Amino acid sequence: MAVHGRPTPQPNIGSDDGPRFKDVAPDEYTNADANPYVMGHRTYGPTCLPASEAQQQRGKWAERFGQEAQLHVEVGSGNGIFLAEHARRNPQWNVLGIELRYKRVVLCAKKIDTLKLKNALICRYNAYYLDDLFLEGSLSGIYVHHPDPWSKTRHEKNRLISRWFLADCARFLKPGGWLRMKSDHRDNIARVEGLLAHDSEGNPLPPLPLAITGRSEDVTTGLAPWPDDIETNFQAKFRKKSEPVYAIGLIRT
Ligand SMILES: C[S@@+](CC[C@H](N)C(=O)[O-])C[C@H]1O[C@@H](n2cnc3c(N)ncnc32)[C@H](O)[C@@H]1O
Repeated sequence: MAVHGRPTPQPNIGSDDGPRFKDVAPDEYTNADANPYVMGHRTYGPTCLPASEAQQQRGKWAERFGQEAQLHVEVGSGNGIFLAEHARRNPQWNVLGIELRYKRVVLCAKKIDTLKLKNALICRYNAYYLDDLFLEGSLSGIYVHHPDPWSKTRHEKNRLISRWFLADCARFLKPGGWLRMKSDHRDNIARVEGLLAHDSEGNPLPPLPLAITGRSEDVTTGLAPWPDDIETNFQAKFRKKSEPVYAIGLIRT
């Protein structure tokens, strides 16, 4: 089902019944040497799932993790600092990272394996298509840290923090599940409240079942709106430049 404002699915793939993110199969690589991680993320090992494998886990993540546990998902894991530390602090949860870039996916997997974490996995996927990976009401936590800001007005439509993404989060979180977001781009956080009941042009829409639980104008100098904040790679960069990192926490009602 189409979601208002959502990026158009890639052409000629998927349907309402199938995955919408196209993985590049090994025999489709025209120049695999150009980026060794294109093939490398496939051959890395069980911690690292290429998109085609991630799609097959929909509804079966507990099986893949080897423990029935709450599923927590970080979107855009980068080099995996948060992902690994969050899993290390919470061995009772399953923690999955979703990352689009091949090399970063492998970096995340290496961090997970170096720390010998059994409750963390990383998959290469595009967060535009969470419905390929998850059943409704199946997630206990979603984390978004420093999504690409797309600060120019003409690029606004590319921002991950959008009405359609919030609607996705509301759909995939279970009641009581949380959504935690941090960004160096103030508007990405400030706009969330409006998007709960409006589109990006300010036209009213039915309210989403998400309630704001707290905000912060700078998690470095103040408190994050949740306990035990874990500093991400990008968060550290902004702290070192003495620039604020904004945050907002929401709960699925
Ligand atoms: C600015 S970096 C932040 C990395 C990390 N979260 C941190 O705070 O250090 C944004 C990350 O999101 C990833 N990303 C961007 N768009 C994405 C998408 N649609 N799906 C999954 N990952 C995405 C990028 O590849 C990049 O690693």
